[in-house]
Amino acid sequence: MRHLLNPLDFSVEELNELMDVALDISKHPDQYSECCKGKKIATLFYEPSTRTRLSFEAAMLNLGGSVLGFSSAASSSASKGESVADTIRMVSCYADICAMRHPKEGAPLVASLHSSIPVINAGDGGHQHPTQTLTDLMTIRTLKGRLDHITIGLCGDLKFGRTVHSLINALVRYENVRFVLISPNELRIPDYIRQEVLSDNHAEFKEVTQLEEVMSELDILYMTRVQRERFFNEEEYIRMKDCYILDAKKMELARSDMLVLHPLPRVNEISVEVDKDPRAKYFEQVQFGVYIRMALILKLLEEASK
Ligand code: CP
Repeated sequence: MRHLLNPLDFSVEELNELMDVALDISKHPDQYSECCKGKKIATLFYEPSTRTRLSFEAAMLNLGGSVLGFSSAASSSASKGESVADTIRMVSCYADICAMRHPKEGAPLVASLHSSIPVINAGDGGHQHPTQTLTDLMTIRTLKGRLDHITIGLCGDLKFGRTVHSLINALVRYENVRFVLISPNELRIPDYIRQEVLSDNHAEFKEVTQLEEVMSELDILYMTRVQRERFFNEEEYIRMKDCYILDAKKMELARSDMLVLHPLPRVNEISVEVDKDPRAKYFEQVQFGVYIRMALILKLLEEASK
């Protein structure tokens, strides 16, 4: 059984094929509208979500399938103490594929070990968010025309931001990708990403605390929110929450073709005045998320049927 737990579960070639299918879906949605007739996706969300859950549901509905699931641990039998392992055994009887978000790192992996349907990690704690990464890769490839030979700035909460961890994991596989890691000292990238992902793959990277000083170098600026839900201490969160605010003045320092991406939700880190800048692509990014999840569902269901 093939699952998607980590962005590295797919080879670069498979990712390219997936993005090709997603692009074709974006151009010819009608041709895919009955591909999953009779199939069901279960969305098992133990943590809040707007985009990921709804885009999985939209993706399956666009493919002619159906959806079921829960949107919080409190509304499922997890609140009575049921384990992830038992839950997925049940869900395997109800659905053909599932997407799981969980606050505990590794919970989707545990589910996959007890599942007879494909499990997609829809975000596990501060660890990984592979389908956001697929979305980000497709956005960059479509709007920039390439995934290699780029300088990407990742800004904000690099410690707890799982989208950043997943994206770095995926991008180190492409040639000449330069990483500029912009964070306060308290929210620097975890040591294992710096050592085992960046250094061990000989990726070029630097760490800075000031966004302004690197704006002009960037092909892509990937902004992230400070992850309030991962802080142990509310005072610490309040001290950190507005550490970077991208506004029109800072955008003046950037190249005319720099892309601004953000996995969303946004809090204060991108001023709304930036939304009308043609370089702001975070709402287009959301649309790519539906197409790539449609392609992913098709791929995993096809592999499961072999
Ligand atoms: N990007 C993302 O994961 O958003 P949600 O938390 O709303 O799913």
